[in-house]
Amino acid sequence: MPLVNTKKMFEAAYNGGYAIGAFNVNNMEIVQAITEAAGELNAPVILQVSSGARKYANAKYLVHMVKAACENYPDLPIVLHLDHGDSFELCKSCIDDGFTSVMIDCSSKPYEENVAITKKVVEYAHNHVPYVTVEAELGTLAGVEDEVKVEFGKSSYTDPNQVEDFVKRTGVDSLAIAVGTSHGAYKFKAEQCTRNEKGILVPPALRFDILKEVSKRIPGFPIVLHGSSSVPQEYVKIINENGGKMPDAIGIPEEQLREAATLSVCKINIDSDLRLAMTAMIRKHFVEHPDHFDPRQYLGDGRAAVKEVVKHKIKDVLGCDGKADISK
Ligand code: G3H
Ligand code: 13P
Ligand code: ZN
Repeated sequence: MPLVNTKKMFEAAYNGGYAIGAFNVNNMEIVQAITEAAGELNAPVILQVSSGARKYANAKYLVHMVKAACENYPDLPIVLHLDHGDSFELCKSCIDDGFTSVMIDCSSKPYEENVAITKKVVEYAHNHVPYVTVEAELGTLAGVEDEVKVEFGKSSYTDPNQVEDFVKRTGVDSLAIAVGTSHGAYKFKAEQCTRNEKGILVPPALRFDILKEVSKRIPGFPIVLHGSSSVPQEYVKIINENGGKMPDAIGIPEEQLREAATLSVCKINIDSDLRLAMTAMIRKHFVEHPDHFDPRQYLGDGRAAVKEVVKHKIKDVLGCDGKADISK
């Protein structure tokens, strides 16, 4: 089937108490790994492209690779989404290239500017044939937000008092909010965490109070969580044992994401966990096979690990396995 937008996917996810995985794609192996995982589990899926990915791989290559995946899985609802679009022009260019969903992220700009630019993107996207869905953001996450950098300690949670006005005035289809997640593999500093009985660092809990208050103000409206990698310690260990150096990498506990998925969160963004899986297996491959120089050998190991991570997320965290048919 052709690429779809997020409309029906999110309606079904909201009503069914699960979330759709939005995974970042940068190259062919990642596109294949994600869609193979989704295909095997009959799960709807969002493939998202950041402006950095667009610069790295060239937007046209990524669009065509995602369309090739649609041909391989003709019954699977697949969305091609722009992640963290920072201008009307970038969103328009992606829509014109065939993206079926875009994010306009003006969350670091003053509120009225965020409203005005988001509204302009919504007008263009909704009048496009076919209809393109739009995600926007209120509140800022700590960490690296594509080209929007927000320092630790300067992050600000979403203000529930703003969401109703924002959604009404912009006409946006979904809203990313800041409730304690952040981008990258180092989401918390050790001093922000406690230690459990095994001595393992436990990060502070997400602000479910804010999430619930937001949902009260805009009932039935799909919420998005960015920065939702869990930084699997088994991959961090493999990286560190095979020449890498990633001390104190820490992510969001999966149980908390599972809980968010049962509430109003319909889209959960995961990128860093795929990067960790791929890097771990490539590093291991090089250490175990110092004579190998065929990229298919080590990229193949990386691709297999990414696929396993995506399958695990779909089944055990998001709960969207088997939901392809009700999503279209
Ligand atoms: O939110 C950021 C995503 O992980 C994309 O990262 O800008 O390095 O492609 P990137
Ligand atoms: P992670 O860095 O936690 O994977 O977040 C990815 C993301 O939010 C992409 O928009
Ligand atoms: Zn993000």
